[in-house]
Amino acid sequence: MRFLNYGSVNIDLVFTVDHIVKGGETLQSSSLTKSAGGKGANQSAALAKAGAEVFHAGKVGSDGDFLLEMLADYGVDTSFIRHYEGATGQALIQLDRHKQNAILLYGGGNTEITKEEIDETLKSFGKGDMLVLQNEIVHTGYLIDEAKKRGLSLCMNLVPFDRTLFSLPLSKLDLLVVNEIEGAALASLGEDAPFSEILESLVKAYPDTQILLTVGKQGCWYGFEDERIHEGIYDTKVVDTTAAGDTFIGYYLASLARGLGVRDALKYASKAAGLAVSRPGAMASIPLAGEVFA
Ligand code: RIB
Repeated sequence: MRFLNYGSVNIDLVFTVDHIVKGGETLQSSSLTKSAGGKGANQSAALAKAGAEVFHAGKVGSDGDFLLEMLADYGVDTSFIRHYEGATGQALIQLDRHKQNAILLYGGGNTEITKEEIDETLKSFGKGDMLVLQNEIVHTGYLIDEAKKRGLSLCMNLVPFDRTLFSLPLSKLDLLVVNEIEGAALASLGEDAPFSEILESLVKAYPDTQILLTVGKQGCWYGFEDERIHEGIYDTKVVDTTAAGDTFIGYYLASLARGLGVRDALKYASKAAGLAVSRPGAMASIPLAGEVFA
């Protein structure tokens, strides 16, 4: 299986802080690093590091050339990433003393993608390929519709979660990935709804879609038709949780592409995410296949 990831490419500016800054507060940070990120690009990096064949499509400014070089070094095909005159997407990330983060996005090139570019890109893909999406670019509804017409299978991670997601044709997805907060919102349940209720509501609401519900330290749940599978977390010392979810998805999909079943794919995805959180950064923290499939 080949993967086309139409997704964000961001420059991450990571500020190390004591606590996440409050409204009206001015706060000093103890360090600032500039690194490669973007949920889409991180997932592509994870797919490639896991050994999958992945094409990333998106848009960057000339300030994003280093990101393309990094992706290419990991083995991602970057020929569908277009350039434009403006800035690459940016993520201002605060990382606090508890290793919690807060992320503020500026769309940049991610919000300059056009339907014409999407049409042109999709011409190179079809049945047997999978389109991977997140919610950091524009025209995701169009991408879902057009990719479905061409026979691609579809995976979407509903993050960042906002009301626009309710208008997307989500029932066309083959795999839907949410955390417990996004899942509860999508299922119109309260934030304290039990995980099992969230999962059951989503399985019922999207009967043709496999559901992956990630629940932080409590691992993740898979639900489809009558099948339910739980996988715990791979416990490591947490240094930086940024890109843990992206790593999880990349390794999950790459494991399936290797011919593994859902249970094993979840196991390797959890291990990869556990290794990623034990290291700083986003894209750079994603482990290599040899570390995960050992
Ligand atoms: O999931 C982590 C990513 O979210 C960061 O790399 C940042 O760019 C934001 O997109």
